[in-house]
This record gives sequence, structure tokens and C-alpha cells, in this order.
Amino acid sequence: MARRKKLYEGKAKILYEGPEPGTLVQYFKDDATAFNSQKKDVIDGKGVLNNRLSEYFMTGLNNIGVPTHFIKRINMREQLIRSVEIIPLEVVVRNVAAGSLTQRLGIAEGTQLPRPIIEFYYKDDALGDPLVTEEHIIAFGWAVQQDLDDMIALALRVNDFMSGVMLAVGIKLVDFKIEIGRIWENDFQRLIVADEISPDSCRLWDMESGQKLDKDVFRRDLGNVADAYTEVARRLGVLPTNVTHTTKPHLIN
Ligand code: TMP
Repeated sequence: MARRKKLYEGKAKILYEGPEPGTLVQYFKDDATAFNSQKKDVIDGKGVLNNRLSEYFMTGLNNIGVPTHFIKRINMREQLIRSVEIIPLEVVVRNVAAGSLTQRLGIAEGTQLPRPIIEFYYKDDALGDPLVTEEHIIAFGWAVQQDLDDMIALALRVNDFMSGVMLAVGIKLVDFKIEIGRIWENDFQRLIVADEISPDSCRLWDMESGQKLDKDVFRRDLGNVADAYTEVARRLGVLPTNVTHTTKPHLIN
């Protein structure tokens, strides 16, 4: 089979030309990075798990009328998606204080926030994805006011959906990041959820033990990353068959 044309390679995914105009193939790698790529590793099986989990969350969102780029999963590591013009912002929603919020404002990790807090980060690796305000976004033309209103509405709907799905399997959705893209339908523009939703882009804590089941396991060296992601997939009933993450041979005595 002829190899598809590679259009873009990011830290955790590769985008290839899709089979039809307006589509792309999104390939999930096993590569993990943190702290703007200062920490790097390869986590066997992570791409397979994130492909499945992102499929699960995006399908659920599509089913409740929250538009996403997801069309269908193609194989263990690839999914067919709609091609969008990515808005250069990371949209973060926080329910519980963790990560950069605790560092920036000195709020203890685990503090329940009085309401979901939405933050925007400008996607620019050279600048380390800085926190920006709505004023910056509009003044520099990354989005217009209507886009901002739509992005906030989308982010809150994703938060409600993801919080409920996780609650049902005993996991607290602490925070997450989404990316949003523009699509054109005739002369109309619409914003849809793009990129991925997976344990790479969420903070997920077991409700009973507080155990971290997300990329903080990698960022903070808290244990086996693939096992944590597998636990999320197992609870949601989306554990892929033939998971390949145990690579070490076992000696039989
Ligand atoms: P933060 O607390 O480090 O700002 O992260 C907030 C959320 O965004 C958390 O769920 C992890 C996610 N995130 C990404 O998906 N990509 C990133 O590059 C960063 C910094 C955070």
C-alpha cells in the first residue's frame, strides 16, 4: 500500500493526508514529552491507548451534539479526522487545583475550585506556551470575541461530559486541555473540538485513593505510565485487544 503523505509531525502525533479532501489521518505515537520537551521517553503502547481513549471521548461528544473532528478509527494507532484550521490556543478547564495553577497562585493541590476555571495558553513552543488573556487573544487576532464565546461554551460542555463519564468509573476529572479548530461549511464557519482527549491531556485522579492516572505519572516519575492509562481504559471498557505495552521478556524458571 502506498504510504500516505506526512503533513505534520508533533510531539505525540503525526498527521497524514487523508483519503478524501477535508480529511486527515491522525497517528498516535508512543513518544511522551513534558516540560516543553525537556523530559522525553517512549512509553510502549501509549499511542494505542490514546487512540482508543480519544475515539471513546470524541464519539461520546459527537453523540451529545458537541462537534469534534473525529470521524472513525482506522486501526490501532490511526484515526480519520476532519481537517481543521487549529486556533493557536490551548484551552484549559480546571475543576480542582493542580499543576501550574498551584504553582502560579500558591493554591494547595487538590483544592476544589468554586467553579470551573477556563484559561487560555498561546501555542508557541519557543515561548513555552504562555498563559494569555482574552485581551491578548483579540488584540493579536488569534480569535475574535464570537470565537471566544464559542470556545468557552465548547470547553464547558466538554467539561460536563468528561466529568460525568469519569465520575461513573470512580475517577475525578481534575483538569484538561483541548484544542479547537475552525471548519468552513459553505460560507459559514464553525468551531469544533480537535487534537485529542486522552490521559496525556487530562488530570485524572482515582476518587478513593487519589492515585494519579494521567501524564503526571510520567511528568513526576510516579510509576508505570502505560499501566495508569490502561486502568483508565479498563474502567471505561475500551481496553484494546493485543495491547503491546509489556515488552520485557519474562524468564521462566
Ligand atoms: P498545567 O496545570 O500544567 O497548566 O496543565 C493543565 C492541563 O493541561 C492538564 O490537564 C495537562 C494539560 N496540558 C496539556 O495537555 N499539554 C501541555 O502542554 C500542558 C502544559 C498541559
